[in-house]
Amino acid sequence: MHELLPKRVQEYRERAREVAERAVRPVAAELDRSGEYPWSVIQALRDAQLMGIWIPEEYGGQGAGVLDLCVVVEELSRACGGVGVAYAVNALGSFPIILGGTEEQKRRWLPAVASGEKLIAFGLSEKASGSDAGSLRTRATLDGDHYVLDGDKKWNTNGNAASIYTIYASTRPDRGSRGISPLVVEKGTPGFEIGKREDLMGIRCVPVHELHFRDCRVPVDHLLGGVEGKGFGNAMMTLDRARPGVAAQALGLAQGAMDWALRYTSERQQFGQSVLSFQSTQFRIADMATEIEAARQLVYGAAKCIDEGLPGASKYAAMCKVFASDLAMKVTTEAVQMFGGYGYCRDYPVEKYMRDAKITQIYEGANQIQRLVIGRALTKEAAAMTSSLDVKVEHFPAEAVAALEGA
Ligand code: CAA
Repeated sequence: MHELLPKRVQEYRERAREVAERAVRPVAAELDRSGEYPWSVIQALRDAQLMGIWIPEEYGGQGAGVLDLCVVVEELSRACGGVGVAYAVNALGSFPIILGGTEEQKRRWLPAVASGEKLIAFGLSEKASGSDAGSLRTRATLDGDHYVLDGDKKWNTNGNAASIYTIYASTRPDRGSRGISPLVVEKGTPGFEIGKREDLMGIRCVPVHELHFRDCRVPVDHLLGGVEGKGFGNAMMTLDRARPGVAAQALGLAQGAMDWALRYTSERQQFGQSVLSFQSTQFRIADMATEIEAARQLVYGAAKCIDEGLPGASKYAAMCKVFASDLAMKVTTEAVQMFGGYGYCRDYPVEKYMRDAKITQIYEGANQIQRLVIGRALTKEAAAMTSSLDVKVEHFPAEAVAALEGA
């Protein structure tokens, strides 16, 4: 159903697929083994003018939407989930500036991200503050014309590859999540150190690091928007825009694993016929393909909802992230099963898809948090519904009212 997408989106998809097939697929297994950063892919993406497409034109970008971003991430992830996130995390890192920066701040930091000259990362989570993002402890204390940053960040994707970091710190610990402020910190700032690299199960070409700040002096004009205390809302709005990108990564992984399963089962001969010719295999592949298409429509729908500023963006972003990432885990596991013993071997491609898929259920808000976001949105909708609907309890049948009262 790709043909239903606007022409512009189809063009982004074609360019991304060309880069994925030429520059990503041939190196994906080796990147997974070596853990080296995919700089050659970043260069190919720069050459194809795909870096920073979501940045508004006035700051050097292409003014592309979340939907455009999603199709690029999907195509890259179809070839390698690690490359998909190495690319997508630049959107996560730059949305806080796009959403909350002053004109001067946007002009200062966005053009280099738009061209791909510099990579940008996002620093919210800490060792003791993951799902409960509002409880972060990194402090930013005003001292003259600087903030002094002290604290540690965890799970920083693109950790040592980035040059610019959006860091959330508390400027007023007494105010809880209302005391959080976002600051832009540049690599090389004294007191800012990149710490331990995590040894991950999947997405192994992407460096995920701890970040340490000790008496790190950041100029006051690095406070996004110039007003303290706006950080938590800024982080939440950023995540609303970025979560469809994780869903697109999951979607690409599911599609990529299914492509391999289809190819393998059509070539593999057992009992004198291809494995795909067995009806049980066809049913499994049919379910995979149908569910992938359903996930795709949900991801694209959520992305369009965000691009068009429609209500419910938070809820739909969470829904598509849950649905696509749970599906990616299911499809990649099933693909391993279809490959049999070969599926469990690193000589074959599918076990990497399964390892890469797992993280999509966890990062940018564990799926339990997404369900909480969806549940809270539905609770608000229910409250609005009960106050607006002309259906009162007394309109229910007498037995139902009696049952309710008895409960
Ligand atoms: N948009 C704008 N504002 C929002 C919002 C949204 N979507 N959601 C909440 N807010 C506002 C609320 O209106 C409220 O504002 P006031 O203080 O003015 O009343 C404030 O934020 C606090 O809201 P809640 O009471 O709902 O906050 P909470 O403490 O209950 O937390 C949460 C809500 C949804 C659980 C949130 O903490 C959350 O999303 N947690 C997960 C964090 C996460 O995704 N982390 C991943 C980081 S990225 C990563 O993984 C690393 C990487 O590099 C890839």
